Order: sequence, then structure tokens, then C-alpha cells
Amino acid sequence: MYKLSDNIVQNIIDLEYSRQQSELEMIASENYVSKDVMMAYSNVFTNKYSEGYPGKRYYGGQEYVDQLEVLTQKRALDMFGLSDDDWYVNVQPLSGAPANLAVFLGLLKPGDTILGMDLSAGGHLTHGHPLNSSGIYYNIVSYGVRKEDYLIDYDELLSKALDNQPKLIIGGFSAYPREIDWKKFSDIADQVEDKYGYRPILMADIAHVAGLIAGKVYNSPFPYFDVVTTTTHKTLRGPRGGLIYCKKQYQADINRGVFPGIQGGPHEHIIAAKAVAFGEVISGQFSDYAENVVKNAKALAEKLSEKGWHVITGGTDNHIVLLDVTSKNGSSTGIGGKIAEKTLETIGISLNKNMLPFDQRKPMDPSGLRIGTAAVTTRGFDENTIRYVAELIDQALMNYDDDSVLSELKSEIKNLCEKFPLQY
Ligand SMILES: Cc1ncc(COP(=O)(O)O)c(C=O)c1O
Repeated sequence: MYKLSDNIVQNIIDLEYSRQQSELEMIASENYVSKDVMMAYSNVFTNKYSEGYPGKRYYGGQEYVDQLEVLTQKRALDMFGLSDDDWYVNVQPLSGAPANLAVFLGLLKPGDTILGMDLSAGGHLTHGHPLNSSGIYYNIVSYGVRKEDYLIDYDELLSKALDNQPKLIIGGFSAYPREIDWKKFSDIADQVEDKYGYRPILMADIAHVAGLIAGKVYNSPFPYFDVVTTTTHKTLRGPRGGLIYCKKQYQADINRGVFPGIQGGPHEHIIAAKAVAFGEVISGQFSDYAENVVKNAKALAEKLSEKGWHVITGGTDNHIVLLDVTSKNGSSTGIGGKIAEKTLETIGISLNKNMLPFDQRKPMDPSGLRIGTAAVTTRGFDENTIRYVAELIDQALMNYDDDSVLSELKSEIKNLCEKFPLQY
């Protein structure tokens, strides 16, 4: 890798590089990009201002910026098999949260009602949390999951839609391990239309599962939804960024929501890396990767269940495993998510504590862990390797206060990482 002449910054980068090489990334929203993707955002487009859109910019010198952005849009549509007769994609959002905000700004008025999944049930902050701009500027109504099986409560969704007349309904999540029935959202929008004479806009936020959808191992919302937002850096394995897809009728409003709504100049150097990442998704091998991500998550959930842990919903359909760490085989472990996260960090596994649905504990020390398999699958882990990781997680959590066991487990993780190095 290129070394900076600024030794101080280079040193910090080197330390992070060593950490990533010798530890496992199991934060469900993370991944390891390819060397091509990483190299692609270190380029001269970082020097360029290009406010506006291809063919309609506010500054000169845009010939190649336009070429780049049009190519990225084409690949962004191709990777989900979308035709530009029906769909438009804005590739400029700087990340997932601004993408969602731009949709709201473009399609809603302050005070309009949004129906989204509650954070505690697995939704995202931008789906209406009171401290997020979504919750500050809009009237938020939330739906959740059923108590008996922790699956989305579509009956609650329907009744809240019929009672509250939302202008926009969001489907999508940050911490939900199962399939979504996207068609049910569309049926619910039809019922609102039958009752009130207007159809709510359906927005899917596929930030987490975009790569799995592109790899055809997870259901797609595109046949049923009007707007689809995503990040590009989770299962999609691109640079940090966002995308907004919309039916053609919303193109002008979405574009206005992004610029001048919430952004100035797009980051065209990152857009170059998005194009490279989308090229990798389209290349054909990506579907094997997506399939392996899900296989690994299922193997992880199975092994942890076998060990006596309570895996929320009993398993997973995507890359996310939600684990209750407060009890094992029905007995209390004496720990919550805070100690569990710290313990696994000590042995070299990064993941995050997570509230579980109906959690009685506090967000800073909830009952759960969210574990993801997107990054370790990129590293080359197969189901056997991931079962071994499950064993190490189990041993660590059961010995959270035993430094000598934890230090042995740390060397196991280090050895494993050496067998599956990053490609840079
Ligand atoms: C469902 C969902 N939407 C939006 C976001 C926000 O993305 P970003 O962190 O890139 O702003 C996330 C991030 O985790 C997410 O999970």
C-alpha cells in the first residue's frame, strides 16, 4: 500500500490495519472492500466540484464527472436488474442516513406522518427516532414485532396504517434476522387507498441486505416499493456511501431532496469506487459470496443454539444473528450485552451490543448482541470455520472473568486471522 509522507497519520492507519488483519469484524454493518474498491476512491475526482446532475451542473469541467456518474447509475440499476424505463437512481448520497433524509425532504412536508419500524424492534434511527431529524420534523408512528415469535407484526402495521393515514411507510431494518414480506406492505398500501382514496408512498431501506438482494438470496422489495434506499458499504461491499432508487415519477423530487436539499458537491471520487463495487456485484461471482454469507449466518445461529444460547427467532434468513446473552440453557449468565461486547473485543472479535425486542435492560447495557457474517465471509470463512468461531464466542462468554482463558482464545482468533488474511 502507498505510504503517506505524514508519518503521524500513517502510523495511526498502520495500527488500524494491524487491528483489522489480526481481529475479526463481526459488526453486521461492516465488510472488507476489495483492493480495487479501496484504490478507486483515492483518485483525482476528489479535486472536483460537480454540484448538480449529469448534463446540468453549476461548474465547468464536468465531461468526465458526467461520464462517471452515468456509468455508476447504469451499474446501480443493472445490479438489481432494473430498467431505466421505470426506475431512476441517485448515486450521490454521502451515506445511508442522508439518503433517507433526502427522501423525506423530497417527498414529504414537515409534520407529515411516517410509519416505520421501531428502533427497539430492529428499525433504524432514521426511521423515526425522536433524536433523529426524522423524529424531529415528522409525525412518527411505529410498528414492531410480535411478542410470541419476534417476527414483524403485519397486523399491527395494517391497523396503524389504517388509523394514522401515513404519507410514507418504511420497510427495512438494522437488526432483524428474518425475511421481510415486502408484498404485504403493498397490500397494506392498497387497503389505505381503498379507505382514504390515496396510496402511501412505500420506501424500503435495504441498507443491510442490499448485497443479499443483489445476490438473489433475499427477497427484493423492487417489485412492490416506490423508493428504495441503501448504503453501499455493508453486504454490498462497496465504499461508504448511499443510493436512492425511485420510480421515474419521483425522480425530480428525489434529486431536489439530495441537492440542493441536503447536500452540496457530490463526492465523485467515492462515486468512482461505487462504480467499481457495483461492477464486482454484477460480475457473477458475487452471488456465491451472498449465498455463503447467509449459509455462514445460519451455521453460526445453529451452533450457538446447540450450545444452549437463545438465538432470537431461532435462526436467521440473512447475515444477522441476534443473541440473548443474559441466559444459557435457561440459567442466568450474570452478564448483559455490555460485558459480552467487551469480552469478545478482548479476544479480538468486534461486534455490538444490541437491544432485543421488548428488552427490559437499558440501551447501554442491553440483553443482546448483534453478530454479522458479511465481513468474515469476505475473508473466506466457510461454515466449519464459522462453527469454530461460535465455539470461541461461547467459551469467551462463559469465561468473561477469566483472563487466562480469554488470552488463549485471543491467540486462537489471531491464528485464524493469519489463515484468512485481508487482501491488502
Ligand atoms: C437500515 C439502515 N439505514 C440507514 C443506515 C445509516 O447509514 P449510514 O451509517 O451510512 O448513514 C443504517 C446504518 O447502519 C442502517 O442500518
